[in-house]
Amino acid sequence: MLNYPSNLKHETIRTWVAEMAALCQPDAVYWCDGSQAEYDAMCATLVKAGTFVRLNEEKRPNSFLALSDPSDVARVEDRTFICSVNKQDAGPTNNWIEPAEMKATLNRLFDGSMVGRTMYVIPFSMGPLGSYIAHIGVELTDSPYVVANMRIMTRMGAAVWDVLGTDGEFVPCMHSVGAPLAPGQKDVSWPCNKDQKYIVHFPEERAIWSYGSGYGGNALLGKKCLALRIASTMARDEGWLAEHMLILGVEAPSGERTYVGAAFPSACGKTNFAMLIPPAAFEGWKITTVGDDIAWIKPGPDGQLYAINPEAGYFGVAPGTSEKTNPNAMASIKANTIYTNVALTPDNDVWWEGMTKVPPPSLIDWQGKPWTPDSGRKAAHPNARFTAPAYQNPVIDPEWENPNGVPIKAFIFGGRRSNVVPLIMQSYNWNYGVYLAATMGSETTAAAAGQVGQVRRDPFAMLPFCGYHMADYFDHWLQFGRTITNPPLIFGVNWFRTDKSGRFLWPGFGDNMRILKWIVERANGEAVAVEGPLGLMPRYEDLDWRGMDDFSRDQYTELMSVDRELWKQEMLSHDELFIKLYDRLPKEMIFMRELILSALWRSPAQWTPKSA
Ligand code: OXD
Ligand code: MN
Repeated sequence: MLNYPSNLKHETIRTWVAEMAALCQPDAVYWCDGSQAEYDAMCATLVKAGTFVRLNEEKRPNSFLALSDPSDVARVEDRTFICSVNKQDAGPTNNWIEPAEMKATLNRLFDGSMVGRTMYVIPFSMGPLGSYIAHIGVELTDSPYVVANMRIMTRMGAAVWDVLGTDGEFVPCMHSVGAPLAPGQKDVSWPCNKDQKYIVHFPEERAIWSYGSGYGGNALLGKKCLALRIASTMARDEGWLAEHMLILGVEAPSGERTYVGAAFPSACGKTNFAMLIPPAAFEGWKITTVGDDIAWIKPGPDGQLYAINPEAGYFGVAPGTSEKTNPNAMASIKANTIYTNVALTPDNDVWWEGMTKVPPPSLIDWQGKPWTPDSGRKAAHPNARFTAPAYQNPVIDPEWENPNGVPIKAFIFGGRRSNVVPLIMQSYNWNYGVYLAATMGSETTAAAAGQVGQVRRDPFAMLPFCGYHMADYFDHWLQFGRTITNPPLIFGVNWFRTDKSGRFLWPGFGDNMRILKWIVERANGEAVAVEGPLGLMPRYEDLDWRGMDDFSRDQYTELMSVDRELWKQEMLSHDELFIKLYDRLPKEMIFMRELILSALWRSPAQWTPKSA
């Protein structure tokens, strides 16, 4: 008999939890209330189990380090499935298995999967509790590590039962690490299933089942599984957007704040951009963070788009984060933070590659082994993470918890391209903006599988996160644009262009403010742009160069040039994507491509934005 919380009046949830407990056969069922006392107790349990090491209380108050199993370190895209009723609805960019077959597999895997463990019931809201943009999920998990992380990453707790009432909508999220314990069997510090992993979404049912992994997006089911894959299908059906976007505010010296959403694939510095510190010369300008990874966007009564960050914390990549690259992130993770797969210093502090120029002389690495700078291996795993509460960010936006969201004036799309794509351009209109976002690509880095430097098309930075056919997703964006009276302007950026010797042409980080300032001025009808073959572009004199005396007009020209022959090749690779999605590709994409091609044909071999 389950000990239901007194304010849980939702019969469907009561029955579902009972059924899942009968299937998974945990030793106990624990209903999370989301309190600080519960979080502290969970952390103490994790320390006792050897999953957590408590860090130095003076240097990292109330913070912990977890080291995962070396086989369980990242999202597993090849084990991620969209099990729609029809295969065509999942599209060619998702893995698909027939739902009945997948359910049979899952029922077999979850049968007895929690023996010897506790099943935790986590009620959580993605977005401020009760916001009309928010949605609720309930995750059942046998991982106390997941419970602790979900408390930081979501609004978790008993108040969610009140919001749900007797029949509120919720997304059921089943999770098991897939490591039942036989009587007397000693547990390991990071239980997972080395042989079988399944991250499964049933879009029509709006249900998530995840088996075998305890790491990140595989296990914290509110994030990529609910807030992107399932939410993207809800958004298509209900007329809104669920996007892989950061949200930031640009505050002008006048105090006026303009909000933008920006989508970048992984490893393109999203968290850094969301917490950017403007150059010293930009006195009175400030960037504020609403979110660093996901945006839910709905049309408001005034015809503008309003966005919330569905998350309550940051699950950020640690390596490369430093006082130099992102002081606001460093401040956000000073206390109350869970670190996963970073290195441990002799005085129980943490370290990772890029945190300091000179590494400490000795460490315990992410695999628990002694490490010195000449070990010849990384001390932290390249995908090591911090989990930190958003409210600890010194530049958190004052409106970040506004249940009505913040008004979005511009969308920015960017990839990592060492050539071809200029630093900044503005699309002529909504439909062309959709084309730019649909065809964005990123060069693979050493951290990713495949040949380094190859361009992978990552439409809207949603390739691993779109819960349905990618071409239907383009169509949804086109249709959505037709319904809003005040659509945000759409921009494309590329911070990563290099010169002939491979050196970055653009310094990035704080200097991205120069581009951001032009973008918000455009959105507010203030700045000038000239027409080019690919879109509207700022001339050198249209950007604010204060404090950047060492950057020449020629360097800018190189960054902004549009090479006709390279662009013809680029268009061919757009075609590759379109052919892949051909059965459902909106016709607009084809006509848009024709328009760009004809503009390119008529442009000089090297086009750059110049004064008339
Ligand atoms: C993330 C990702 O972890 O995009 O945010 O992979
Ligand atoms: Mn992400």
